[in-house]
Amino acid sequence: MKKLNDSTSDRGFLRGLQNYGDREFSIYMRRAFAKSMGYTGNELARPVVGIAYTHSRFNPCHRHFPELLEAVKRGVAAAGGLALEFPTTSLHESTLAPNSMKFRNLMAMDSEEMIRAQPMDAVVLMGGCDKTVPAQLMGAASAGKPAIQLIGGPQMTSRYQDERVGACTDCRKFWTQFRAGKLGQVEIDAVEGRLVTTAGTCAVMGTASTMAAIAEALGMTLPGTAAIPAVHADRLRAAEATGARAVALARSDLTPDKIITPGAIDNAARVLLALGGSTNGVIHLAAIAGRLGLKFSLSRLNELSDTTPVLAAVKPVGDEFYMEDFFAAGGVGAVLRELMPLLDLDAMTIAGETLGQRLAAEAGCYVDRRVIGTAAKPVEPRGGIVALFGSLAPDGALLKRSAATPALFEKTARSVVFSSLEDMAARIDDPELDVVADDILVLQNAGPRSPAAMPEAGFLPIPKKLLALGVKDMVRISDARMSGTAYGTIVLHVAPEAAVGGPLGLVRTGDRISLSVREHRLDLLVDREELERRRQAVSLPASTRLRGYDKLFRDAVLQAPDGCDFDFLRG
Ligand code: FES
Repeated sequence: MKKLNDSTSDRGFLRGLQNYGDREFSIYMRRAFAKSMGYTGNELARPVVGIAYTHSRFNPCHRHFPELLEAVKRGVAAAGGLALEFPTTSLHESTLAPNSMKFRNLMAMDSEEMIRAQPMDAVVLMGGCDKTVPAQLMGAASAGKPAIQLIGGPQMTSRYQDERVGACTDCRKFWTQFRAGKLGQVEIDAVEGRLVTTAGTCAVMGTASTMAAIAEALGMTLPGTAAIPAVHADRLRAAEATGARAVALARSDLTPDKIITPGAIDNAARVLLALGGSTNGVIHLAAIAGRLGLKFSLSRLNELSDTTPVLAAVKPVGDEFYMEDFFAAGGVGAVLRELMPLLDLDAMTIAGETLGQRLAAEAGCYVDRRVIGTAAKPVEPRGGIVALFGSLAPDGALLKRSAATPALFEKTARSVVFSSLEDMAARIDDPELDVVADDILVLQNAGPRSPAAMPEAGFLPIPKKLLALGVKDMVRISDARMSGTAYGTIVLHVAPEAAVGGPLGLVRTGDRISLSVREHRLDLLVDREELERRRQAVSLPASTRLRGYDKLFRDAVLQAPDGCDFDFLRG
């Protein structure tokens, strides 16, 4: 039997020994416990691939991960490595309170420290649901070991009566119909059982699918794997290939800082824009970049947005196609090939080839042009997301113009203000609420440092009495986030947020607000003296009575343009 070689303890199972003050004792102890798991010396002498495993019964989007894990381990073993999975925090959108974003940094810290502390040469990051992929990429970027992302993949669609449905753009559509009285209780109960019928992440270009595409565009996944549906056999083959590639990475020094470069970040941002992807992707990309000391600014976003066409018509962009259609149409590779003249083709990928080499090898691959347009005939001529600046958002705000109503893009109107989520819940459907279709709805105190911790509440409901009149969209402004599956003329991530004294907290019902998407402006039309008077009267929430992670989060979380990472985690 081959003996575990203790002379190579910078690699493999003997790397990173505990310090008892006696190195030989440390080796002896580690071997003793490894033997308790039944491993032979032969196995333990192989390159070790850790698998960050995020299966959890609280995470329905990852319910297929056990089968996926087996495929990864098969790939690792066939390539001569030792696969060791380990649990990390797992985050699902609908099973975490107050919201999953609050725990993205916790998962990133957990992932980083476990990758660094445990004796692995490379790591496979198994993620899917919205915050899991950015958390893993942030953690892996900081941990500094070779890493490869394996995406869980999107759900397949289902049927409600004669309609094709999938989470969760359709969730919102049906709920709006229910609120407007067009669907009854029996119907909405039936819809509830039809929206999510397979394993995997939301079936549209929401945050999960956007982050999967970003991971591929960054070069952190195997080519062509971001959009494979969760239950498709190709997903298992991708898992096996990812495991095999991780063994090669374990023998290399291809660490994330060599992949996630400024050029790769621009490439990922272009793909985000070309997909009309989730606004959350902007926050996550800034956070990933920040881990490596890089900056992805909102002004850079605008430069890229003005020169990047929207190419994919996947819900919530358009009203027809889902992620399974996007995969069949050619997936992220088809979008990248169409964007080629705009990309940094020298960017290295974890596959060991540059992006340019990858795309050259894919020349001539099939593309379904109903789903993925060409640069000459795009879905929209400019990017799906635009940053706005002005007296209401000195550090910026976002609008997803590809999912908004163009007729509302240039607008000056009266504001109707809700001071918190609780205030909004209490009054939004009050028949006495003084609101008309032409007003701008404003929600305060839903940013990262608010008690709500930046929920996906930016999709403010249209007041019931306006819904009954057939109003489908209004300008809505907040410091909250919005689900990538949501749509509407919604201004988000206003920074600085109300809870740290940003001007958003000084808006009062009746103030006039001016929005100009053309000029990239968002202004509060109230004179300075009046704002100063209001500022003196505002008291900001303190974190002194908090404890534990709540306190850490409130004290250390950065504003949206800096990715909402913790200040002490940036590179
Ligand atoms: Fe997991 Fe939508 S809830 S991706």
